[in-house]
Amino acid sequence: LRNFILFQDMNEQELEELSKITYQRVYDKNEIIFLEGEVGDAVYLILDGLIKVFRTVESGREKTLVLLGQWEFFGEMALLDKSLRSASIQAMKTSQLLVIDREKFNGLLLKFPQISLKIIVTLSNRLREANNQIKALTFKSVKERLHLVLLDLADKYGEIAEEGTVITKKITHQELANLVGTTRETITKLLNELIEKGIIIVKQRYLILVDK
Ligand code: CMP
Repeated sequence: LRNFILFQDMNEQELEELSKITYQRVYDKNEIIFLEGEVGDAVYLILDGLIKVFRTVESGREKTLVLLGQWEFFGEMALLDKSLRSASIQAMKTSQLLVIDREKFNGLLLKFPQISLKIIVTLSNRLREANNQIKALTFKSVKERLHLVLLDLADKYGEIAEEGTVITKKITHQELANLVGTTRETITKLLNELIEKGIIIVKQRYLILVDK
């Protein structure tokens, strides 16, 4: 539990207490955890896995807002502002989550103000990131946005290898399209251009950025 920034200031006894009010759940790859518009009754902390936060439109197209990984959390907004879930959540691979139900979570916030402060810091970071996305979607071309997404993935999941920076998460063209905010066909075309120019290499379905 101490690995979650939310709980970093808690002592052994408090963590022990906390462990009694949380429970674990495992979600399979592609399993939906909840959908936008549902009533929110719990907050989720990621022990292991990869989680997609996304919104959809009626045509079926979707925009990935963010990918979350180990030691991050989600589902706090509907509990804090007593609204419905603001986005849908799906496991991108088998994910082990720690769940805290609404009442227990509210009790924790009242008892440990430092948890609220940590949540405010996280919300600020997420707002900054969302502002970056607004700027990119407003002013940058699809090509430039793809470059930003690739660099971001390389920062988060990159490993240096002989050929360049390997993005260690296998990501489909559709997933890249959802992150960039465009269609799969456009992504395929733009990736092929980057491959032809020798800027990226694809090896066993992993993307390698030759020179960041
Ligand atoms: P909630 O609205 O309860 O359910 C969806 C969750 O997705 C939300 O809480 C946040 O935890 C998370 N979320 C929504 N939008 C973003 C975003 N832009 N960046 C990071 N996380 C988000």
